[in-house]
Amino acid sequence: VPLEAQNRNVTQDVLDLLDTKSPLQTSEDFPSIPQPEIKAALDRLASRSMVQYDTHEKDQVLLTKESETIVADGSHEYKVWDAVKQAGKIPIKELPKVVGADSAKVGQGNAFKNKWIKKDGDSLVLVAEEVKDTTRDILKDIQETKALSDTKLLNDLKKRKLVTTSKVLSYSVTKGPKYAKEIPVEVTDLTAEMLASGAWETANFKPYNFNALGSSQNAGALHPLNKVRQEFRNIFFNQGFVEMPTGHFVDSGFWNFDALFVPQQHPARDMQDTFFISDPPKADKPRSDPETEAQMDAMEAGYNRLFATAEKRSTKPRDYEQYFQNIKEVHQNGAFGSIGYRYPWSEDECLRLVLRTHTTAVSTWVLHRLAEDPRPARYFSIDRVFRNETVDATHLAEFHQIEGVIADFGLTLGGLMRFLEDFFSKMGIENLRFKPAYNPYTEPSMEVFGYHVGLGKWVEIGNSGMFRPEMLEPMGLPRDLRVYGFGLSLERPTMIKYGVSNIRELLGHKVDLGFIESNAAVRLDKN
Ligand code: PHE
Repeated sequence: VPLEAQNRNVTQDVLDLLDTKSPLQTSEDFPSIPQPEIKAALDRLASRSMVQYDTHEKDQVLLTKESETIVADGSHEYKVWDAVKQAGKIPIKELPKVVGADSAKVGQGNAFKNKWIKKDGDSLVLVAEEVKDTTRDILKDIQETKALSDTKLLNDLKKRKLVTTSKVLSYSVTKGPKYAKEIPVEVTDLTAEMLASGAWETANFKPYNFNALGSSQNAGALHPLNKVRQEFRNIFFNQGFVEMPTGHFVDSGFWNFDALFVPQQHPARDMQDTFFISDPPKADKPRSDPETEAQMDAMEAGYNRLFATAEKRSTKPRDYEQYFQNIKEVHQNGAFGSIGYRYPWSEDECLRLVLRTHTTAVSTWVLHRLAEDPRPARYFSIDRVFRNETVDATHLAEFHQIEGVIADFGLTLGGLMRFLEDFFSKMGIENLRFKPAYNPYTEPSMEVFGYHVGLGKWVEIGNSGMFRPEMLEPMGLPRDLRVYGFGLSLERPTMIKYGVSNIRELLGHKVDLGFIESNAAVRLDKN
């Protein structure tokens, strides 16, 4: 029977019965119809004011398999007593053979307690000629009524695993003001004819069902990484961070490495980790880039409007050539109070083009820009980076980094720790632990570990530090302006949130579009 027709039958059955019995109780009057079906019929009628109903929740007591056999064959103690009565005398050792192992074990003790039988040497003999099997009677009663008012007894039976309880909804239904024996014919559409003839005034319109579930939509879906990215953007925006323009996937070694005081012999720069671009073979020296500049201006203008912050006060023009020479100097000979690395610095190496290995390349450009008007500032970015790594369940050659940068006067390491604790608590990760680490561009540097309540274990969640003067001073930033930086991958928290253990299910050509379409939105602060 199609569901629609079936529902109509239930609806009609309710109307029929109400004609002679009001109120009716669905649990008694329609015991075999599933509760959701009853509710659908009642809602259909209630929306037309044909019935009114109240919902009751009550505990139902149900027999287990074991107690169903007790109702059929008698309790264990009854079986023991009956066997002894039949035989007159049974050796205790023989009892399991006669009544079964289970009944022998449980029934013997109860039969003693009830003074139905007693021991006579190694045998069992009768005490009571007639007995009443109350356990069976009680269970039989429960089977019929699905209820037991004696709560002490109920708990006892539950402990002995003879009954279980479950909550059931039932409804008591009475006639409503528009009760009729049948649902009247209903009009679903308003037509021009009805308007012309005036029939609309008396027509019986079908009511809207605002509780109906909509049909599933063939709509687009956001990728989980995008949803988590948006969650992080909101966290950053809420804390007054300005987004950085991250459109350049290709950058020069200068912005990706040299300006960050990464020495040219650093292992991270060689072929194993970095994708180098062969064509064109060489980048221009660092120079102004009006397009990216305009994007950054727009993002800062949005922030200034929102927080009623003054526009840039003074603009000291950036001298890219001076900056370039400063970087060379701080690497090769030492400068700004640093002894430098003291190796012959190569301009060619610096101008090789790379797929950026971290978004810190962008942070560096933005910090250099900040030197025009050094002031407290907060920046963030979430975008793609590339590393020549062997692909496995947790690594891809491209992934996304979340990065934050905070510049202010007189910052200390303790402030960074406090900030990170606050930041990660917004994504449901508490109790941070910090481990000293090494980055060429930060000192001190800390790896960040967090206890993930949902996973129940410690996970490495990020990398952080305070940018070195060798990076900041060549830009022209004043010595007392300190800068925190921290970074983490976007994939890691997304995998945790979506319970994905293989990163390839999330990014790349193996992604299942069905997974993308059907997964829920996330809230980072809710496990
Ligand atoms: N760039 C670092 C990384 O790739 C993250 C980081 C950013 C560390 C800023 C310190 C400061 O992991």
